Amino acid sequence: MSDSYIQTLFAERIGGNQYGKSIAIYKFEKIKRAKRAALTANPGAEIIDMGVGEPDEMAFPEVVAKLHEEASLPANRGYSDNGDSVLKEAAARYMDRVCGVKGINPETEILHSIGSKAALSILPAALINPGDYVLMTTPGYPVFGTHAKYYGGLVHNLPLNDANQFLPDLDSIPEDVLRKAKVLVLNYPNNPTGASATPEFFSKVVAFAKANNLVVVHDAAYAALVFEGKPLSFLAIPGAKDVGIELHSTSKTFNMTGWRCGFVVGNELLVKAYGDVKDNTDSGQFLAIQHAAAYCFDHPGITEKIAAKYSRRMDALVQVLRAAGFNAKKPRGSFFLYVKAPKAAVKKDGSRIEFKNAEEISQWLVTEKLISTVPWDEAGANLRFSVTFVSKNEADETRVLGEIAKRLGDVRFEF
Ligand SMILES: Cc1ncc(COP(=O)(O)O)c(C=O)c1O
Repeated sequence: MSDSYIQTLFAERIGGNQYGKSIAIYKFEKIKRAKRAALTANPGAEIIDMGVGEPDEMAFPEVVAKLHEEASLPANRGYSDNGDSVLKEAAARYMDRVCGVKGINPETEILHSIGSKAALSILPAALINPGDYVLMTTPGYPVFGTHAKYYGGLVHNLPLNDANQFLPDLDSIPEDVLRKAKVLVLNYPNNPTGASATPEFFSKVVAFAKANNLVVVHDAAYAALVFEGKPLSFLAIPGAKDVGIELHSTSKTFNMTGWRCGFVVGNELLVKAYGDVKDNTDSGQFLAIQHAAAYCFDHPGITEKIAAKYSRRMDALVQVLRAAGFNAKKPRGSFFLYVKAPKAAVKKDGSRIEFKNAEEISQWLVTEKLISTVPWDEAGANLRFSVTFVSKNEADETRVLGEIAKRLGDVRFEF
């Protein structure tokens, strides 16, 4: 059958007239297919899913009750555009109380988002001209870079690895790239590495941004999910508001991934530009959701409870993986445990399975052990285990962790 004329109309940015014809299968689709195949081959068996990047539990009942109450108010029914002051004021209190960032003006320095992903997709329109460079960390969450490329921008990747404590080496950026660079995108605690930043690193970033006329976008989607101490906001660093903005979200910190709500905070001019593009992109999140999110920002104890659960699971998973030979170290935050991928697994009968990269061991783990993980091969071969696996209660959580230990226990991994 010949192509419809529609096939000839697609923009080059999504593949032009070749759109949809590629037979390449992307990583997350491969994982899904491998999970489905493993279930078909083992009917009724339990797949332990440590590949998911979202909470395993619902939003807390009081937050759901707040949504219910707000959803019944006629005043909340319409377009919210760039939002009312309820979320902005709660977000400013949150920045002060949780992140130690004082003096944020809720009217001019905060604006809601329909989640951080939406904000990351909107911001490039405000900043990127063809030929401009974006500095991004790899492995990482690619959304800002994807949209920057849609506008003709270029991405320079900064690898994160053990040797640099998963903090990008800013001095490694070639002179010609730096001259054309406009934006540095960071994310700490980091997906997928689980790494946290330090105040020293953020201070260096502020000085670097000023010296090189860069905008810093700090994606703080996991900021409050910390296992000890206080969350570290980029904006807590002196001078940070002169160079950048930070993105917060209720998705991970309040178990609200489906609700779609967060906020952009920081440099007034950048927040205004975000707002102008946003106004031409969406009509604002439902006010009832914004108000429920505002309730959350005033109840940070919810995040502390969620973080305590992840911390407990992380302690146990680190032990299980260490016993299996992995060099697992508990991160200081997030729900991701990132470990070096083994090069081979040796079975009791002496047979040896070699893995060329993280993708191969990840496929093997789901097929042979019914354990789903996410492989990352961008900066060394690594596996990401999320402690958001499903369990019925704490006792069941211990059972699941015991099950992982049992499944990994009958092979010896080589690294
Ligand atoms: C680093 C990072 N940023 C942003 C997001 C998306 O957040 P939101 O649900 O607020 O759009 C995710 C979700 O996986 C993420 O890992």
